[in-house]
Amino acid sequence: MGLTVRQNPSMSELTTLRLGGTAIAEVHVEDVRDLDALPGMLSTLGGTPLMLGRGSNLLARDGELPLTLVRVPEPAKPEIVSVSGERTTVRADAGMGLPALLSWLAGKGLSGMEGLTGIPGCVGGAVAMNAGSYGTDMRAVMRRVLLFSPQCGLRWADLEDVITGYRHFAPRTEDHWFLVLAVEVDVVEATREAIKARMTEIMNTKRSTQPLDAWSAGCVFKNPAGESAGRLLDRSGFRGRHLGGMAFSEVHANFLINTGGGTSAQALELIAEAQATVAADHGVNLELEVKVIP
Ligand code: EPU
Repeated sequence: MGLTVRQNPSMSELTTLRLGGTAIAEVHVEDVRDLDALPGMLSTLGGTPLMLGRGSNLLARDGELPLTLVRVPEPAKPEIVSVSGERTTVRADAGMGLPALLSWLAGKGLSGMEGLTGIPGCVGGAVAMNAGSYGTDMRAVMRRVLLFSPQCGLRWADLEDVITGYRHFAPRTEDHWFLVLAVEVDVVEATREAIKARMTEIMNTKRSTQPLDAWSAGCVFKNPAGESAGRLLDRSGFRGRHLGGMAFSEVHANFLINTGGGTSAQALELIAEAQATVAADHGVNLELEVKVIP
């Protein structure tokens, strides 16, 4: 038990884009009972705290970064916490992989999260950005979230205590930073076969329309209302556009990929060029979905 500190972690080893410089330190919270000591530890280490899951939506800048990473405890197995009529409530820890949670639910014949198939992050990251696909998102199933912040300590937040939107989640309280530790989701019973068939269908579609095996952080821009950022980028000629080791994917123009040796400077230059061109061509300001850190 305790808080374990590792100095100078490399962001290229901790993000799916596999690029970026070195943070000040990485703090592993081994047990929720250690959380009270976390704010003090972070003040001592300095830098801006960054809650890090699987790093699948992050674009880390190059060089020495004024960041201290926080990692949540090892996840326990998900647990059914209650069954009421049609509804089954399942609790999952933040550190669990989202794909692993979806497999667990499918194995139990519990339906509701299949649309999130193919999203690579962990449960905590999925909550913290309200990850979504196929017309659903985390908010659609979320019942309450276990949060920690220096101001409010450890508490379960109900849906009315948080603000959610398209790829957005924030507690209503004025927290400097918050850590997602667990979530409870409401799902319903269905046959395992039907759930698995839907997941396979989604995975097959994503495999043919998204570069799932490339080093990427998923879609780099949010979709503007009623449009697809990928389609706009494609129409503006960005599909396959390269700069050094970075490129907009040939498979889907809204995926920025690291083809090897890419840098965040190259990524940010491509992003700026794409934003300027799409604004000029289509009158649309593309907003980043990936989080640029710091
Ligand atoms: N399209 C193009 N060219 C491209 C890419 C897409 O013409 O290079 C067209 C497609 O042919 C289709 C339309 O644009 O007609 C929409 O494409 P797609 O179905 O791939 O969906 P998307 O709007 O590009 C969104 C999410 C994805 C999610 C998929 C599937 C965002 C920014 N993207 O993509 O989420 O997986 O729907 O539900 O919300 C992510 O958030 O990281 C992400 C990958």
